[in-house]
Amino acid sequence: MRYEVVLPAAGSGKRMGAGKNKLFLQLQDRPILIHTLTVFEQDANCTGIWLAVKPEERTFIQELLTAYGMTKVKGLPAGGEERQHSVHSCIKEMKEVDIVLVHDAARPFITQEIIVRLAQTAYEKGAAIAGVRAKDTMKKVTEGVITETVDRESLWVIQTPQAFRFDLIKEAADVAEKIGFLGTDEAMLVERLGHKVHIVESSYENVKMTTKEDLLFGEAILANRSR
Ligand code: CTP
Ligand code: MG
Repeated sequence: MRYEVVLPAAGSGKRMGAGKNKLFLQLQDRPILIHTLTVFEQDANCTGIWLAVKPEERTFIQELLTAYGMTKVKGLPAGGEERQHSVHSCIKEMKEVDIVLVHDAARPFITQEIIVRLAQTAYEKGAAIAGVRAKDTMKKVTEGVITETVDRESLWVIQTPQAFRFDLIKEAADVAEKIGFLGTDEAMLVERLGHKVHIVESSYENVKMTTKEDLLFGEAILANRSR
């Protein structure tokens, strides 16, 4: 199933505390951004990559793309204040495609096996997102006191990629912009339209590099994969 991917890369990485965009930090021998891009470069089903970037970082990123031989990037539109705005700036530039994947540039360990299942499910059903089963007991807390223990069986921790038919995500993103709705993921925008979103069971390795502890886990994943 052929698709194009949107990679929001215009964040500032505040929680990483590196004093720069965390996507430029290295894992083993290359930047996190390049690890993520490489997965899609190497996937024959991926026909185009859209990178949302900070305008002041565009030149540096273009240099990185050249240095690492990345050839599939079709556009580097300016990201926005929030991640949702960055994603939307890419969607606005995309021409008619069948399937769009939205994937955090900060999740370098996504695998082709999961991508295939997401793209296929989105093609058949419209919308499919990656997630893993919650491992811990989950409770609702109000003012420091437990109000409810939530049934873990029904709880999933949501990741990216999130895959959609192009017309569906385009409509959902346009409507969200029009009414000023801000979601924490793309699925929320589609859910708002009353459309079903399907879950594809992903991997616990598909973590987002968010705080510096995640870098340790990331190095361990890479070391394990190269063994
Ligand atoms: N992102 C983006 N535009 C924004 C905010 C985030 O394109 N306005 C991107 C980030 O670059 C990252 C992905 O969205 O690849 C997931 O966001 P997150 O992990 O929150 O990254 P940052 O926003 O950079 O980090 P922080 O929230 O700690 O500042
Ligand atoms: Mg953020």
